[in-house]
Amino acid sequence: MSKESSKTIESVLHEKRVFRPSEQVSDNARISSLDDYQNIYDLARKDPEKFWEEAARRELHWFKPFHQTLNWSNPPFAEWFSGGTTNISYNCLDRHITGPKANKTALIWEGEPGDVRQFTYKELHTDVCRTANALRTLGIKKGDLVALYMPMVPEAAIAMLACARIGAPHSVVFGGFSSDALRDRLIDGEAKAVITADGGFRKDKAVPLKKAVDAALSDGSCPTVKSVLVVQRTKEPIDMFSGRDHWWHELVPSQDEYCPAQQMESEERLFVLYTSGSTGKPKGVVHTTAGYNLWAHLTFQWIFDIKDNDIYWCTADVGWITGHSYIVYGPLSNGATTVMYEGAPRPSNPGAFWELIEKHKISIFYTAPTAIRAFMKTGREIPDKYDLSSLRLLGTVGEPINPEAWMWYREVIGGSKCPIVDTWWQTETGGVMISPLPGATPTKPGSATLPLPGIEADVVDSDGKSVEVEEGGYLVIKKPWPGMMRTIHGNPQRFKESYWEYLPFINGKPIYFAGDGARRDSDGYFWVMGRVDDVINVSGHRLGTMEIESALVSHPFVSEAAVVGRLDDLKGESIVAFVTLESGRDVNDQLFDELRSHVSKEIGSIARPDEIKFTDALPKTRSGKIMRRILRALASGEKISGDTSTLEDRSVLDKLRK
Ligand code: WTA
Repeated sequence: MSKESSKTIESVLHEKRVFRPSEQVSDNARISSLDDYQNIYDLARKDPEKFWEEAARRELHWFKPFHQTLNWSNPPFAEWFSGGTTNISYNCLDRHITGPKANKTALIWEGEPGDVRQFTYKELHTDVCRTANALRTLGIKKGDLVALYMPMVPEAAIAMLACARIGAPHSVVFGGFSSDALRDRLIDGEAKAVITADGGFRKDKAVPLKKAVDAALSDGSCPTVKSVLVVQRTKEPIDMFSGRDHWWHELVPSQDEYCPAQQMESEERLFVLYTSGSTGKPKGVVHTTAGYNLWAHLTFQWIFDIKDNDIYWCTADVGWITGHSYIVYGPLSNGATTVMYEGAPRPSNPGAFWELIEKHKISIFYTAPTAIRAFMKTGREIPDKYDLSSLRLLGTVGEPINPEAWMWYREVIGGSKCPIVDTWWQTETGGVMISPLPGATPTKPGSATLPLPGIEADVVDSDGKSVEVEEGGYLVIKKPWPGMMRTIHGNPQRFKESYWEYLPFINGKPIYFAGDGARRDSDGYFWVMGRVDDVINVSGHRLGTMEIESALVSHPFVSEAAVVGRLDDLKGESIVAFVTLESGRDVNDQLFDELRSHVSKEIGSIARPDEIKFTDALPKTRSGKIMRRILRALASGEKISGDTSTLEDRSVLDKLRK
């Protein structure tokens, strides 16, 4: 551990500051005191099924009402709202356009070069219907999986809603993934079509997306993909393959402006989203129609305490779950105005975020701790140049936030008047699980505070017993909730093993283990400490160490690789790889660059190791398991503590130390 990082953990442990919601904030809030929160929490705890039944009937439109709230007879396979039919695209659009929200702005989009597009609910509805009809002309039917590999343009949200409208599950692949990573996901999901763009603008550069799609499809390994729909964004030259490729601007605008929303059974698939785990390839997390809709809807309402005049902006990419739940589905289901931004702050415009807040009078801003730490580093002079007085609420997501960054966010960006919601959740949970409610929960810098109503979270030891106050342990969830993932695409067994049997004591009990370590303080507040499995979190991007290792080993010179995370002040964690080479291969600078590019090609540049340590051998146990604990200590320059007696060959350690 570096000196700086240990300072951060120390400060989290000794954090004593408490910030209560101001009277003004509480008076205007839906849930306006800790007692209110507690009452709702107790209600949900006493009779969860009644609680969810009422919420689902109240908050969603049903074509046909459900007759059973929860079927948990075969855990961990849950069925929520059985017998009912609904459609998330209907809930996000149709139910708003018959009332006063028809001409309300649904989406404000700002392009990297500064172009702006806005859509009312009525306009968005029309565009989604046309796109849905276009997908139908391409032969896409209910149940067909459609992959999206898109820049942050409005068409990404439109395409998601269009897929949902006709009951075609989407699989959004982050535009920063390589063509190889895209290909893996297309094959695994048996995608029938890909929606992409010629490219996207990112940090003053045009990223070629269509070329990557062509490369992914070039070897014929995904024969299920019959068509590619291409948005024109950068106007860079691309190849269009006749019969397979179609321009969005040629196909979509001529379609009929109405497309009925497919009546979807509650448990029919809404989307698959790939995420990294401890073992094997990324897993396709499956979310279904009604439960996910309810969870994205309710959590958005609770944690942002959304008002009709709010302008809300989440800086995530639609390629991640945060973009799904809190750029598209949560905000639109609530009839809110959501902002989408194509770019990111960059050297030529370090104030890009603040400029946008000033320009669009954004009132709620939701971003990642890694971004806040980067802004801290460049100094408050930049945000201080902008008028940020429209802000009333701030949020963070993706990784633990250190109290220093939290305080900076509060003072410099929020002018010490905006509550901060530090929201803990995962791709698998569908939406936020632990978070303050802005009008109710006193906040402490660095704590995600309390679980949302209906969420029974606990911190347990390796026997599954709740730990004492201030003691660290595993963060678990003890009751099913509507937004929970339903399975891993094509691999229910792995779903069971990865989340419901991962800790030995769980075996057979319906307890969900999230992969994170946490502790609770004497107020019952949760302090999430980060992953305890082999997943690392680099700038809020979740990566499995195994995936990076496989990428390295697929290089012909590499014989073995082990990857660990090292705490990093800016990125949260950085990637350190220990690599042994095939005999006869020499270490040189060129090889370092080559291996980094190789990982970029295999996965994407987000997975590129920051450091590669070449070594003759890796420390292993007698049964041949790599001792990562030792590598983590070595990567951070820490002393190796704990038992090393299981090490097969102690001389490996001495060499590594040198
Ligand atoms: C981490 C992103 C601490 C955590 C929504 C989790 C957090 C992983 C927080 C999921 C938070 C997310 N405090 N850690 N507020 N939010 N995490 O699937 O380790 O990309 O398991 O979902 O991010 O990452 P994922």
